[in-house]
Amino acid sequence: MKKLVVLSGAGISAESGIPTFRDADGLWEGYDVMEVATPEGWHKNPALVLDFYNQRRKRALEVRPNRGHEILHELEKMFEVVIVTQNVDNLHERAGSSNVIHLHGSLFESRSTRDERLVYPIEGWELKMGDLCEQGFQLRPNIVWFGEMVPLMEVAARQAREADIFLVVGTSMAVYPAAGLIDYVPYDSPRIIVDPRIPDLRSVSPIHKFEEKASVGMQKVHDLLVTLA
Ligand code: APR
Repeated sequence: MKKLVVLSGAGISAESGIPTFRDADGLWEGYDVMEVATPEGWHKNPALVLDFYNQRRKRALEVRPNRGHEILHELEKMFEVVIVTQNVDNLHERAGSSNVIHLHGSLFESRSTRDERLVYPIEGWELKMGDLCEQGFQLRPNIVWFGEMVPLMEVAARQAREADIFLVVGTSMAVYPAAGLIDYVPYDSPRIIVDPRIPDLRSVSPIHKFEEKASVGMQKVHDLLVTLA
């Protein structure tokens, strides 16, 4: 089986009802990114940060995977599919995808503020002040904030290097190092992009562009991939 490596972003979850970051009704609206998604913001006001992610988690639990997520799952019949997602929701998993790398962490995990190796599942929607790791230190969301290392970047880059086909769906490609993954893809491997506003990817020339929402665009990608399997 050929290896299909997918880089997904907020756009694939948009039709499920989770707003993207940089579109007009973006998630940051009403929130200062520096307050809720940086280590400095956490030190200044951890309760605000916990509340921000509690609201995101609550929303993620209310929504369902859409056709875009489902098609990615169905493609496992034809390809070895590896999804590298920038999303912290769990909609890829809930659609059935079996190999998902969460580059920016997960809404449904907490981790110790003392020892980053202490990671725990979050049941339900709420992480509170006073929720502690086994060593007695406050838990924080296991999310990669601006200014933090991206621990799974090497793992993701290795996958991109092995891609027979590389698919980019629903990301503005504005945030590094995630956006740089496409540069690891072998020269001869087809690149496919699905987005209602195709991002400007100066350095590479995408071969197949689908200027569509994920639900419609992914169906067309599916039809194309049948011919490339
Ligand atoms: N289907 C597909 N794509 C869509 C849809 C849709 N229905 N609606 C919007 N989009 C596209 C937008 O055109 C845009 O290119 O999704 C992209 C969303 O871009 P961003 O909001 O920048 O989200 P993303 O690229 O995932 O952001 C990357 O930035 O804020 C950080 O850590 C956060 O993981 C996030 C990272």
